[in-house]
Amino acid sequence: MIFTANTKGLGGELTVPGDKSISHRAVMFGALSKGTTSVTHFLKGADCLSTIHCFRKMGISIEEEGEQLLIHGQGLHGLTKPSGWLDAGNSGTTTRLLSGILSGQSFSATIHGDASIQSRPMGRIMEPLKQMGAHIVSLNHNGCAPLEITGGSLRGISYQSPVASAQVKSAVLLAGLYAEGITSVTEPALSRNHTELMLRGFGAQVDICPEARTASIHPEPELWGQQVQIPGDISSAAYFIAAATITPHSEVLLRQVGINPTRAGMLQVCAEMGADITLLQKSCHGGEPAADLLIRSSDLTGTVIEGERIPTLIDELPILAVLACFAKGTTIIRDAQELKVKESNRIAVMVQNLSAMGAHITATEDGMIIEGGAPLHGAVLESHKDHRVAMSLAVAALQASGETRIQDASCVDISYPGFYGDLQSLFR
Ligand code: S3P
Repeated sequence: MIFTANTKGLGGELTVPGDKSISHRAVMFGALSKGTTSVTHFLKGADCLSTIHCFRKMGISIEEEGEQLLIHGQGLHGLTKPSGWLDAGNSGTTTRLLSGILSGQSFSATIHGDASIQSRPMGRIMEPLKQMGAHIVSLNHNGCAPLEITGGSLRGISYQSPVASAQVKSAVLLAGLYAEGITSVTEPALSRNHTELMLRGFGAQVDICPEARTASIHPEPELWGQQVQIPGDISSAAYFIAAATITPHSEVLLRQVGINPTRAGMLQVCAEMGADITLLQKSCHGGEPAADLLIRSSDLTGTVIEGERIPTLIDELPILAVLACFAKGTTIIRDAQELKVKESNRIAVMVQNLSAMGAHITATEDGMIIEGGAPLHGAVLESHKDHRVAMSLAVAALQASGETRIQDASCVDISYPGFYGDLQSLFR
């Protein structure tokens, strides 16, 4: 796909698709509940469709009715053994959270996925789930999918996770639904808490202690179908926040974007860099806060992004690297080694692509260093089929001279079908 610079500015308003993390969880927890769960603003991206597909294969009826998704749950013990593999596609969230759920079932099943999923680390969930009593085999003996999971009688554990990962935390807590005794997870920094908030809403007893970075769950709750209203995905909004900020003469309004503090680190960092973002019309559904975001173009200065903040903006680091290219001075991203095990190695891939555009950017062991202000020019860029890389580079292309070509640009369908059309709709 070919992109050229925008000179007239971006304007207008947009409702970005529903939050990906919350969409996955609505399907999963709806399936494990009694009665019907209705979901509005569900993200119909390929990742969440993989989750739907997996649960349909385990006997759950899921239908679309107008704007709503209806999940006819069968209770905690109502899943049935799938015939053949469960296909998680490109989705780490599907693979890891489903592993936790399968650990508590009375049947065995195998989760498979695409080339990216087959190279992402699964030892991080296999380890605690095995400690709880599940039998999990990496069929290629490399700690990655395909994973064959045989559920067993599980025991609750107090797990000290070595990584701040909501997928690890959620896998363990979901297995904890089926365990004997309480299961708790303590993480080195607080990761997104959608699982804890939503499971509570469905009726589980979840104790959250943010100061200790610990969440605990009591087993065998009766979960009941709920109405879930999903906010816009801040990780999708991030591209328009960046685009409007770096494109002169822009003013863009993004409607009802989720601003859960465990996800909204990018807003703080942008504000510190000098971005002009105003929060309006605050609301809250199911414990998930949201707001309209009004973004006007502005000058930026470099900053340091590190420490406990990293999990709150982990998926936004590729687009923050783009923003840093347009900031005055140096931006340092550190403590972000997790970027290397996302859909692609996002440190290597962003450095390679932004360097090809003329940016002054260096990879480090755990992040990147960006000297802002070097003018960007068009180039042929490789998305590596990573949706967030493709969208970040499309934003960089808005302020690059000449023509930019992004290979495998259609991978944005993973989290944002219609992204390029929505971006185009803001062109004046
Ligand atoms: C997610 C958690 C994060 C994030 C991913 C979605 C989730 O991954 O990067 O896009 O929905 O729980 P990690 O748990 O690996 O940090």
